[in-house]
Amino acid sequence: MKFHPLISFLLLVLLPLYKFVHVVADLNSDKQALLGFAAAVPHVRKLNWNATTPVCTSWVGITCNADGTSVIAIRLPGVGLYGTIPANTIGKLDALRVLSLRSNDINGSLPSDIPSLPSLQFLFLQHNNLSSVLFPTAVSLSLKVVDFSYNSISGTVPNLNLPRLKVLNFSYNNLSGSIPSSLKRFPSAFIGNPFLCGSPLEPCSTVSSPPSPSPSSFPSPPIASQSQHATSKNKLGTGTIVAIIVGGLAFVFLPLSIIFICCLKKKDSGSGGMLKSKISGVGKNEKPNDFGSGVQEAEKNKLFFFEGCSYNFDLEDLLKASAEVLGKGGYGTTYKAALEEGTQVVVKRLKEVAVGKKEFEQQMELVERAGRHPNVVPLRAYYYSKDEKLLVYNYMPAGSLFALLHGNRNSGRTPLDWESRMKIALGTARGIANIHTEVGGKCTHGNIKSSNVLLTDELEPCVSDVGLAPLMSAPVTMSRTVGYRAPEVIETRKITQKSDVYSFGVLLLEMLTAKAPLQQSGHDDVVDLPRWVRSVVREEWTAEVFDVELLRYQTFQEEMVQMLQIGLTCVAKAPDMRPTMDETVRMIEDIRQSESKNRTSSEAESNIQTP
Ligand SMILES: *[C@@H]1O[C@H](CO)[C@@H](O)[C@H](O)[C@H]1NC(C)=O
Ligand SMILES: *[C@@H]1O[C@H](CO)[C@@H](O)[C@H](O)[C@H]1NC(C)=O
Ligand SMILES: *[C@@H]1O[C@H](CO)[C@@H](O)[C@H](O)[C@H]1NC(C)=O
Ligand SMILES: *[C@@H]1O[C@H](CO)[C@@H](O)[C@H](O)[C@H]1NC(C)=O
Ligand SMILES: *[C@@H]1O[C@H](CO)[C@@H](O)[C@H](O)[C@H]1NC(C)=O
Repeated sequence: MKFHPLISFLLLVLLPLYKFVHVVADLNSDKQALLGFAAAVPHVRKLNWNATTPVCTSWVGITCNADGTSVIAIRLPGVGLYGTIPANTIGKLDALRVLSLRSNDINGSLPSDIPSLPSLQFLFLQHNNLSSVLFPTAVSLSLKVVDFSYNSISGTVPNLNLPRLKVLNFSYNNLSGSIPSSLKRFPSAFIGNPFLCGSPLEPCSTVSSPPSPSPSSFPSPPIASQSQHATSKNKLGTGTIVAIIVGGLAFVFLPLSIIFICCLKKKDSGSGGMLKSKISGVGKNEKPNDFGSGVQEAEKNKLFFFEGCSYNFDLEDLLKASAEVLGKGGYGTTYKAALEEGTQVVVKRLKEVAVGKKEFEQQMELVERAGRHPNVVPLRAYYYSKDEKLLVYNYMPAGSLFALLHGNRNSGRTPLDWESRMKIALGTARGIANIHTEVGGKCTHGNIKSSNVLLTDELEPCVSDVGLAPLMSAPVTMSRTVGYRAPEVIETRKITQKSDVYSFGVLLLEMLTAKAPLQQSGHDDVVDLPRWVRSVVREEWTAEVFDVELLRYQTFQEEMVQMLQIGLTCVAKAPDMRPTMDETVRMIEDIRQSESKNRTSSEAESNIQTP
């Protein structure tokens, strides 16, 4: 079928345009609804929601879907919102999945158009002053988490039939009557409501007068919840204080907790367990007094977020997140933290930072700037105190190049094909080149290795651990790093851009051979990868040097040999003989270009060979 040229032209030009108009219209209605909300509900902390700036990338607390067509999450905890949310504001965001307005001062009724939003899964309104919630007949069936604890909601408990509901919380309100059978599977969701009765609480008395609150089953009458609410606004929140007490206790029980942690090491690396328990129990220099002084100094408890970051959580949220150890390296331990609203981030806890606060902050600014490149993991936030330095990064779901290259070698492994290796090599080179040229051309990485190359789902590589070397007292001396280190660094302990090039060269050889940078060659003799590759190549060139997984890609053998040569150039012994990172990028790009010309002829063959 062939179209008339004019029709093809119109299709080509108008179709994308139509899509564009459609997209803008969708987002625009969301934007108007949000502006309506911001205008109707006063707030103490200023929101930067400006009609002239892009909603998805610059508005605080807003997250959009991947193609930027609609708002899917609003997270505004503790920004001092007060007054009543009107209908036809948030209730119009029909793609909304997460609404978190907890720890504000919202009063009146929650309009019924919010719980009926069809995609809504997470609803966090705890610690407000709502007096009622208007549940519509058509409550969203997607709801998974509903938290209304610590409000002033009176009335009877609604009968909610929500099959996906995992967490429900109406604690510390003023609900009355009995709990409907649909909600009896949430026994602890109703504590602190003195006028509630019936299973699983005290049986309802047949006399119609409400039962007097019994202190044993309802430890905290509404008075207590009000005062707790008030403190959470004035100070840093009860959670912080609890965190401090827990931290203090952890210090006291440090020896015990170490034993505990050692025994549970296996479990520790699995999911579950709060970040707080992993971080505050391990600090060596923390004296109990330091925790006390932390309360007065609000600054101490701040996470510093970089501009343009759409995350909206505080230190308390982060410490409450469930955490999983991702790895322990020379710079410290890395955790994956899952925040309650479904956000996942990576938290790096630095050890042995040798610089002061000012210098640390300046370095963080550089790191953030170097991170504005698609092949560098962006730094989103950091936390600095005397005893604790935390960095917050995006979570990279597909893991590291190290795992991809060496993982499951014996069983059930998906081979890493040549195309992917080329893509990862080129992206990594571009990421490092950007670090070298950005910020005045003075930046180095200092710790390039396969476990510091992280991957997106599309196998686009991102370099991590950027700019941390200058913060540390000495170059990292973990055995896994040593094989990547340039010979001159081992002597002078000074990291340069040329020593980064050397490390990248080792990384290339590792990707081609699937061999570790340092190898035991039998009799306690350690051979480094560049030396091994050179010896194999010198003795008589064979395909032996390549990873067996690459042998099936015969048609690409020319590319592999060229790549090997680039790797060997990068690991030249004399720094002056090594190319710069920019030159390395160009050399890899050239392979692709010259090869794509030859490709067409060998395409058919390659199709047969490639699984
Ligand atoms: C918001 O936009 C107005 C113009 O509509 C501009 O004058 C103002 O400076 C902007 N405010 C901020 C904080 O960017
Ligand atoms: C909600 O709070 C605002 C200001 O704090 C007040 O003017 C209004 O009367 C309150 N509304 C209700 C229903 O309590
Ligand atoms: C909550 O609202 C009630 C009125 O509805 C008011 O009396 C009370 O002071 C408010 N509480 C807080 C903590 O703002
Ligand atoms: C709580 O509920 C009870 C019974 O329904 C009612 O008498 C009381 O006034 C309510 N208290 C508040 C603060 O709304
Ligand atoms: C509800 O919140 C209260 C207070 O934070 C807590 O004690 C209770 O365990 C929670 N219940 C559920 C089901 O999460």
